[in-house]
Amino acid sequence: MSDVPRITTSAELQAMRRVGRLAARTLALIGSKLAPGVSTGDIDRWVREDTAKHGARPSQLGYHGFPAAVCTSRNEVVCHGIPRDDERLEPGDIINVDITSELHGWHGDTSATFCVGEVSADAKHLVETTRRALQAGLAEVRPGAHLGDLGAAIDALAREAGCSVVTDWGGHGIGRKMHLPPHVAHVGRRGDGLVLREGMTFTIEPMLTLGSPETQVLDDEWTVVTRDGKWSAQFEHTVLVTRRGHELLTLP
Ligand code: MF3
Ligand code: CO
Ligand code: CO
Repeated sequence: MSDVPRITTSAELQAMRRVGRLAARTLALIGSKLAPGVSTGDIDRWVREDTAKHGARPSQLGYHGFPAAVCTSRNEVVCHGIPRDDERLEPGDIINVDITSELHGWHGDTSATFCVGEVSADAKHLVETTRRALQAGLAEVRPGAHLGDLGAAIDALAREAGCSVVTDWGGHGIGRKMHLPPHVAHVGRRGDGLVLREGMTFTIEPMLTLGSPETQVLDDEWTVVTRDGKWSAQFEHTVLVTRRGHELLTLP
């Protein structure tokens, strides 16, 4: 497909590697600071500080009016949670921190779900299954593979573990913009969809739930929650299709 941008030069590759590593390092830093009592507003401040320290910009700040530098999605929040000073982490919570950074006009996007203190067995299962679902999707990425292969692998793993895959939201191409084609669904059929080619860069970011996969957007017009109130987890990497397979761009 001609509307799917590809990295072609080593300068572009270096730029994507640099910003990907930066986003991953900021995410790791935030992960090391999470504890009961920390507010999601604190997370937003830390992301702003660390991103600025590296001469970068939080891509999400002001994106279609998004009011913060980072998405913080706790428990039944699926994605796009808005950080607040009056939302404090409690033992037993799970929280996804989603960081997108821009450096020299290039974007890197990564997220992880963290457990706060001891969490329930169900929550732990959800988080670990979602982490494995992302890995299952990544394992399919190589030239000639179809996008449907990724979705099929992710969905199969999730179902096997008794979890549901959210279909209202998905991954996306990324490069000179945070969101580019293609749309990356986390369900699908083998052999369906776009054929991957060397140089494509996109995210895989499965959102799994412990109940129904149905979601709704709250009145703030951003926060996506499960309709049934069951908890949701998400992990995200930015990946490059290479000649032989793929390269993870968002490793610290
Ligand atoms: N980083 C998010 C993603 O994975 C983007 C959220 S858009 C925002 O695609 F405006 F909500 F920040
Ligand atoms: Co993201
Ligand atoms: Co993304």
